[in-house]
Amino acid sequence: MSFKEYKTNIEENDTAILYLGFDNMHAIKVVKGQTFQTKFGALRLSNLIGKPYGSRIQCPKGYLYVLYPNPELWTQNLPHRTQILYSTDISLVTLQLDLKPGSVVVESGTGSGSLSHAIIRTVAPEGHLYTFEFHEQRAQIAKEEFVEHGVSDFVTVTHKDVCQDGFGLNGIADAVFLDLPRPWDAITSAKQALKKEGGRLCSFSPCIEQVQKTCELLQQLGFEDITSMECLVKNYDVRTINLPIADLGKNNSALSNTCTALDEKKACKEIEEKADSVKIQTETEDLETKEKSEPMDTDLKEKLTSKEKDKSNKAVDKNKLRTDFDLIGKKEEYSFFFKTGVFPQNMPGHTGYLTFCTLYPS
Ligand SMILES: C[S@@+](CC[C@H](N)C(=O)[O-])C[C@H]1O[C@@H](n2cnc3c(N)ncnc32)[C@H](O)[C@@H]1O
Repeated sequence: MSFKEYKTNIEENDTAILYLGFDNMHAIKVVKGQTFQTKFGALRLSNLIGKPYGSRIQCPKGYLYVLYPNPELWTQNLPHRTQILYSTDISLVTLQLDLKPGSVVVESGTGSGSLSHAIIRTVAPEGHLYTFEFHEQRAQIAKEEFVEHGVSDFVTVTHKDVCQDGFGLNGIADAVFLDLPRPWDAITSAKQALKKEGGRLCSFSPCIEQVQKTCELLQQLGFEDITSMECLVKNYDVRTINLPIADLGKNNSALSNTCTALDEKKACKEIEEKADSVKIQTETEDLETKEKSEPMDTDLKEKLTSKEKDKSNKAVDKNKLRTDFDLIGKKEEYSFFFKTGVFPQNMPGHTGYLTFCTLYPS
């Protein structure tokens, strides 16, 4: 089998992905006579041989699907020997390094081979990946995996400390990728590895201090277009919002024609109350979401409960607001209900910063 191609039927010794759910997958090797334990009970691997990839397989207490592996599924299921790059960052790296079939890429360190598999898939069959790793066992395991996954013709794994000894490559690479604790120690050698026509370089670092030091050296060495990016998945929650219609003052025809001073005072109070109710509703929904995903912070819970009690006389019925879909798009006298996407104030998921730059021909 090969990660580079696709085939229809499962064969002995294939690497396959068992899909029990989007958050429950396993990478396995289909070995005759072996059994794999899943949450749905034991799966005899011999039973898979000859079945088409994508088949639904019945287990004692449920069913699963057997999928053909690709770099994205491998990234989600590979055995971790190090921290790895995930598909969000990998997609940005592929795009920004301008990788395509035929590209020659230099990478260090190989780590668990997560990024390597994606690079190989992109540059094959004419291109090549030169990947360097100073941990001997990791380099050896990566080599074996590339053979097992049928992509060894497109990659050369070298066991080497690139910070101390350099890459030892001259003018062959279209792109260089560095995932090292001290990338600045490898940049001079990375520059030598790039083609005379120039190329792109990317350095991945978790800390901003590493980014600053890397950028300074890149600039000194004549790299241009230096840009650091962070790629985060942004989840939006769908909420019903009641937005007060802006009071544009006495000349606002909606108000000035119809309202007396007393009316205006009443309107303002009503708008304030509705704004409060929206705030409570949003906070309660936040709390409920938080409660589902993580243990409750008791202080926060108490704070919100008492806040809700305080406001309960003023607030519009919370349940009515949340369940009454008739309100959507409804314009009330001083407010408007609508559905919108609300993004979280704090964005979890930091892995690292990606610094990209170009070396132009001198
Ligand atoms: C975070 S891991 C790389 C993970 C990889 N990008 C992936 O997606 O699986 C960093 C690797 O760099 C290797 N490394 C660190 N310093 C190195 C050096 N000077 N030369 C070569 N490899 C090095 C480490 O052994 C480690 O395996």
